[in-house]
Amino acid sequence: MEFIDLKAQYRRYQTEIDLRMRKVLEHGQFIMGPEIVELEQVLAEYVGVPHCITVASGTASLEIALRALEIGPGDEVITVPFTWISTAEVISLVGAKPVFVDIEPATYNLDLDRLEAAFSPRTKAVIPVSLFGQMPDYARINQIAGRHGVPVMEDAAQSFGARQNGRPSCGVTTLASTSFFPAKPFGCYGDGGALFTTDAALAERMRAIRSHGGLKRHDHPWLGTNGRFDTLQAAVLLAKWPHFKWEVEERRRIGARYSEQLRGSCVVPEIAKGNTHVYAQYTVRVPQRDHVATELKAQGIPTAVYYPKCLHQQPVFASLGYQTGDFPVSEKSSVEVLSLPMHPFLADKEQDRIVHAFKTQAHP
Ligand SMILES: Cc1ncc(COP(=O)(O)O)c(C=O)c1O
Repeated sequence: MEFIDLKAQYRRYQTEIDLRMRKVLEHGQFIMGPEIVELEQVLAEYVGVPHCITVASGTASLEIALRALEIGPGDEVITVPFTWISTAEVISLVGAKPVFVDIEPATYNLDLDRLEAAFSPRTKAVIPVSLFGQMPDYARINQIAGRHGVPVMEDAAQSFGARQNGRPSCGVTTLASTSFFPAKPFGCYGDGGALFTTDAALAERMRAIRSHGGLKRHDHPWLGTNGRFDTLQAAVLLAKWPHFKWEVEERRRIGARYSEQLRGSCVVPEIAKGNTHVYAQYTVRVPQRDHVATELKAQGIPTAVYYPKCLHQQPVFASLGYQTGDFPVSEKSSVEVLSLPMHPFLADKEQDRIVHAFKTQAHP
């Protein structure tokens, strides 16, 4: 059994993927080929914003965005300590300081009641994470950040395909960043990511920074990087695109089926009002997490822990001065969460075996 079955996905779409990739091999425009523009148009339209800029990874996209916002030394950026390292890593990489706000236990997303207190005159942006595949309340986040005059960037690496009150993830904040890492809800077969924004000037800067700080060859008004998305990977995503809606529906169906069967034996994911969930991870909370994981592994059922250590407890962020105990909800989550196999090709029979094995081991 696979935790995320990418081989099953490739088998299903092989004809289209091979054809699209072969086209790239034949036209030979490997860097910024026509598939890049085609994909950016398709994704911008889906998200409902005028600008999509594909980039080399979800980490590169966050960093390029912070550079475009001219965030650097002396600045603070608010985010959560219960996320993948990238979210905070990029803040330090541009020379700014990550300021952490705890999550709330039901959704693992930013606790909005604690957000206001984290602002200082040095705050230059807020990066909420739409963790595991559902969005925090962006109407409220935008309102709070708006009062302080700072932009909100959704880290939507795990939530592409999710919606909030009918509006798609990546389309509800000043700017948003997603990842096409293979295991993500809309993954390619290597690294990749994208930025979305309604702000034309910001879009132009991000486009420039992606490619050595200029939009014309040998003209570099900005300090940029090589952050371009690969044309072959754009071809993979274009081949997968017609199936994306189906995949999102399957994820929702499989997630709901897990919750129906597991409720009572662990804490199942709660879907906030107005949200749809794409279950980048199907994550439950169970006190004897490590025991359950070991027993499932012995039965050939892979699980994963996202995340076993909070970012304020990581050595790389020791200089920020946080202590264990500062973010109790994140810390408790890090010792109790367990993610179960989740992908659109998970058969009911396989899922039943996972549920049975889990229930046998978990004692609430
Ligand atoms: C919340 C979050 N942010 C950022 C990233 C970074 O994406 P990438 O792996 O494409 O650099 C990830 C992916 O792992 C993620 O889960």
